[in-house]
Amino acid sequence: MSTAHPKNAERASAVPGTPVLSVRDLSVSFRSDTRTVHAVDSLSYEVAAGEVLAIVGESGCGKSVTSMAVMGLLPPTATVTGSVRLGGRELAGATEKELSAVRGKDLAMIFQEPMTSLNPVLTIGRQIGEVLRRHQGLSRKEAGERAVELLALVGIPAPERRVAEYPHQLSGGMRQRVMIAIAVACDPAVLIADEPTTALDVTVQAGILEVLQSLRERLGTAIVLITHDLGVVADAADRVLVMYAGRAVEQASADELFTAPRHPYTRGLLSAVLRPGQEGKRRLPEIPGLVPSLTAQPDACTFAARCTHADERCGTARPALTPDTGHRVACWHPVAATAPAHEEAAR
Ligand SMILES: Nc1ncnc2c1ncn2[C@@H]1O[C@H](COP(=O)(O)OP(=O)(O)OP(=O)(O)O)[C@@H](O)[C@H]1O
Ligand code: SF4
Ligand SMILES: [Mg+2]
Repeated sequence: MSTAHPKNAERASAVPGTPVLSVRDLSVSFRSDTRTVHAVDSLSYEVAAGEVLAIVGESGCGKSVTSMAVMGLLPPTATVTGSVRLGGRELAGATEKELSAVRGKDLAMIFQEPMTSLNPVLTIGRQIGEVLRRHQGLSRKEAGERAVELLALVGIPAPERRVAEYPHQLSGGMRQRVMIAIAVACDPAVLIADEPTTALDVTVQAGILEVLQSLRERLGTAIVLITHDLGVVADAADRVLVMYAGRAVEQASADELFTAPRHPYTRGLLSAVLRPGQEGKRRLPEIPGLVPSLTAQPDACTFAARCTHADERCGTARPALTPDTGHRVACWHPVAATAPAHEEAAR
């Protein structure tokens, strides 16, 4: 017998593979008196019900800004263009009132900094309950009962007791679970998890990932998982989007990305962790060369300065992410799909 929540089971099975969240040509820039930073440049991705899409890329490549833009949570200094469709609804250009009706209900996010996202002066039960009262109109008593159930769902022992505690009384791993409980309180169609396991020890990490996996299995939640940990990607993701300097450079199923990466940047990342003797390394490695400044939007490949395969064309024309579906790569000279993942490509 299926244990899926009826609303989400319906959502997940409506049209298999239909995207619940569809981001098209999303660009974000921040303007100050002296310069403009182009943090995200024409990014597109989709995620379907019950699917886990991982977003990877080195620090500063725009993963969090992309997610905050999808949530409509960027500061007024940000200029956002493009389309963000949730189900059939366009969120780009929506008013704050319209967005706050969606946020936490249909679209939820686990933020990179759990401590700063929880209110230190409210019990965790109250913080979970507030979401339920706002979006589902539950009474205080009903919300309190549901908060205990949600704490149990995310694997917090003795939830009846914990519900009355304050954030500082919990460990980092427990606070992260509370953030997940708040994020999933209203059974969102889409959950964006920004580095949900960073700074947690390995056992706690495994527990958090199990919670996310069980959510997608039981509730059909579509999950966008941002992580630096390639081990987490290998274990948890169905598909992977690789970002570099605000742009998408490769998108593929997790299997294809690990066995046959085609973009030189992706290969650089993976060859460092897949090389014999490096199996224990899971974090994204440093690769040689400087990350480009985000103040320009060159009509060129932004990886050209670090790429050993760059030629004149790479410096004068921007490669598009092609083909439209399947294993997609933005490179004028992608590596042959048959080249072993742990070696730099022979061409
Ligand atoms: N409010 C802001 N104002 C100006 N620039 C910003 C702002 N927020 C982010 N940025 C810039 O946007 C770029 C992308 O930042 P973002 O936080 O998305 O990176 P990230 O990929 O999430 O990195 P990390 O892996 O370290 O979390 C960075 O250059 C960052 O400095
Ligand atoms: S387009 Fe050129 S510079 Fe960019 S990754 Fe491909 S080969 Fe390297
Ligand atoms: Mg980030």
